Amino acid sequence: MQCVQRHAQPAQAAGRPQGRLAVRCSASGSPAPPSEPSRRRLLASVAAAPALQLLLAGGPGVQAAAAAEPGPRTLAPEQAAAVEAAFAAVLPKSKAPVIVRLVFHDAGSYNAAAGDGGVNASIQYELDRPDNFGLKRGWSVIEAAAKKLRGTAAEGAISKADLIALAGAYAVGITGGPAIEVPVGRRDATGPDPDGRMPALDASAEQQIANFAAKGLTAQELVVLSGSHTLGSKGYGDPVTFDNTYFKTLLAAPWTDKSNEMAQHTGIPTDHVLADNPELRPHIQRYADSQQAFFADFAAAYAKMASLGARWA
Ligand code: HEM
Repeated sequence: MQCVQRHAQPAQAAGRPQGRLAVRCSASGSPAPPSEPSRRRLLASVAAAPALQLLLAGGPGVQAAAAAEPGPRTLAPEQAAAVEAAFAAVLPKSKAPVIVRLVFHDAGSYNAAAGDGGVNASIQYELDRPDNFGLKRGWSVIEAAAKKLRGTAAEGAISKADLIALAGAYAVGITGGPAIEVPVGRRDATGPDPDGRMPALDASAEQQIANFAAKGLTAQELVVLSGSHTLGSKGYGDPVTFDNTYFKTLLAAPWTDKSNEMAQHTGIPTDHVLADNPELRPHIQRYADSQQAFFADFAAAYAKMASLGARWA
């Protein structure tokens, strides 16, 4: 049972300083996908929130004392401020792409049927796997942020897995993407997760859908999360601007232009096959047409991905 605690009305009952808690629970191993009202709230926050508001904490902090059961919790405001200051010191825009990829590779070991893997910072033990090439640079940012948190209000309050999830949301925010609500309380793994669960670099669209389904992620979530490839240097616009250029480019398919050598290097093989799949193409079209829809759905899918397999402390 997973429960998401949300700060709601001011407390009616005496002696509860932080206010009443609204608790939404799901029976699965991961938090439920956001409800329609929650999606609408995200949409509103996308429009209204400055990128760095981040919803690191999502509002006033929920005190540990109020969280009798293990479950996701929000950071107190002073803890959220310390985390944001740490990221500001060690996570410049230039490192945003590798950080967002790091989140996917920590999350991507999750297997819903086996009930193991997921966002637990096991990535630190898996950096030599071929799938994880280039991610040592990302992990060193997480370690540097953890070091910055020593002696602050956030010391001991968040795990490395939380830091990974938060850093990805921060990276999306500083590159112009949506604000994302990320609860904390994940427990860290003490060793590597099972290998062989990341999508192959030459996977077909159907294989990618199946790979994501094994993680409990839908075809729509595969599409919207792959929109992260707008970050980085694969030719989807500015490498450190989070926007919907990825989807526009998938529809234009510049790699098919045999007369343009440069254009043929746009993207990676797994991107190239997505728009030809009848299940995926409508989602690609929708996000190419509407950056607002992309941002809202990305925020929801990121929040889900960043809690896959989480064991809440
Ligand atoms: C669907 C299957 C996916 C495959 C096969 C895949 C594969 C790759 C590969 C091979 C690269 C490196 C390109 C290079 O630098 O040579 C890459 C980059 C990247 N991936 Fe993915 N990816 C997938 C999905 C995702 C998802 C779901 C996310 C995030 C939610 C993501 C985030 C990123 C980011 C941000 C980069 C740029 C990293 C950088 O420039 O340092 N990817 N991906």
